[in-house]
Amino acid sequence: MELLVAVLLLSLLIPSSGGEKLSGLPSNFRLRNAPAAGLCAHLIEPAGYPCSEHITQTKDGYLLGLQRVSGSSSSSRTGYLNGQRGPPVLLLHGLMMSGDAWFMDSPNQSLGFILADNGFDVWAGNVRGTRWSHGHVSLSEREKEFWDWSWQELALYDLAEMARYISNVTNSKVFIVGHSQGTIMSLAALTQPDLASMVEAAALLCPISYLNHISTEFVLRLVKMHMDDVFLAMGIHELNFKSDMGTQLMDMICDGRVNCNDLLGSITGKNCCFNDSRIDFYLEYEPHPTSAKNLHHLFQMIRKGTFKMYDYGFWKNFKEYGSFQPPRFDLRNIPESIPLWMGYGGSDALADVTDVRRTLKELKGKPELLYLEEYGHIDFLLSVSSKKDVYDDMIRFFKNLSGRYTSY
Ligand SMILES: *[C@@H]1O[C@H](CO)[C@@H](O)[C@H](O)[C@H]1NC(C)=O
Ligand SMILES: *[C@@H]1O[C@H](CO)[C@@H](O)[C@H](O)[C@H]1NC(C)=O
Ligand SMILES: *[C@@H]1O[C@H](CO)[C@@H](O)[C@H](O)[C@H]1NC(C)=O
Ligand SMILES: *[C@@H]1O[C@H](CO)[C@@H](O)[C@H](O)[C@H]1NC(C)=O
Repeated sequence: MELLVAVLLLSLLIPSSGGEKLSGLPSNFRLRNAPAAGLCAHLIEPAGYPCSEHITQTKDGYLLGLQRVSGSSSSSRTGYLNGQRGPPVLLLHGLMMSGDAWFMDSPNQSLGFILADNGFDVWAGNVRGTRWSHGHVSLSEREKEFWDWSWQELALYDLAEMARYISNVTNSKVFIVGHSQGTIMSLAALTQPDLASMVEAAALLCPISYLNHISTEFVLRLVKMHMDDVFLAMGIHELNFKSDMGTQLMDMICDGRVNCNDLLGSITGKNCCFNDSRIDFYLEYEPHPTSAKNLHHLFQMIRKGTFKMYDYGFWKNFKEYGSFQPPRFDLRNIPESIPLWMGYGGSDALADVTDVRRTLKELKGKPELLYLEEYGHIDFLLSVSSKKDVYDDMIRFFKNLSGRYTSY
């Protein structure tokens, strides 16, 4: 899981000045409500890329935002399909992030722009609860029922609906790209035959299905403190680090036992290559809210070393699932016919190499692998050299497969 954003935010929040955490915030930090303009207008069109906003409704009533992006005019002739729209790619962001994560840096550094310039039909996904999604048909964000979900629903409802919508519009299967929580969603979804049937191939950055070897002191401390249970017991259902509560919480956690000056590193592992003079800008967008139930589910994975549905406890499991234990997501059910590509880093404290190896062992297929010794969890998204280090290889993988695609 990437408390990735919590990271970003904390490292900024609590820089070198131990005492004045609450006053030192950038003025944009508390921005809470969705800006009137969408993500297209905020980040994508200003960079010169045609972009359209789409809204689609999940089976359980959430209204998700999707942004469809095509290559900038300067790139339209260099796209590999000679100006034809290429295969659709759905981008699935990490925890407490949203579709904006793929467009944060310059067009030659950010995956969303790079894919569009390579002729792909890019769709940025935004899961429920994030700022670029649009609420729910009947629930308000202030109701606790609105936040009654974990990554399980993000996989089985949100990913499912976004993929269905895109394949309906484009009349084609979709490529998916996930980062961190986006990979948990992808791997869980691909174990389900009806969802797998919509997917052409998947590229996973910092792939996660097991989480019991995470080596981040900060997260392990939260797990040990039972922070997830504390939230739920306090009746906190929405986790929003841009709220007052969020900043108070960080005060509580950073009581001296964790070096909060280096919080980014202590949550994600050391990142070699991202540009920390851009954190202020990233924080205009991140972190996005998530649910306390989601955190609880992630912590269940850390405690138990399992890749299973949400554990409600013995009796309620029986009511929900017909068994006293939650059903597992069995990686062996992912069809071998779906090509997988994975990028992972030796310095990633969340998608730990030991856990990645276990994932690989359980898959029937053999993913193509890109291992970068120095890369940490955030580098795969925001490294200044991720195009050369990571995305060029991912795009080679997609293009090789889309030989199949030209028949559309
Ligand atoms: C990347 O983009 C930035 C700004 O858009 C530009 O200044 C820089 O020269 C570009 N770098 C390369 C290698 O194309
Ligand atoms: C599928 O797409 C067509 C147009 O391409 C649209 O008319 C129809 O409503 C879509 N169906 C769903 C279920 O989204
Ligand atoms: C790092 O960020 C700063 C501030 O946005 C920018 O001026 C600089 O060009 C960036 N460096 C790289 C290598 O992208
Ligand atoms: C392209 O894909 C085929 C299998 O579909 C594989 O055998 C081949 O090595 C790939 N080539 C490249 C350059 O990735």
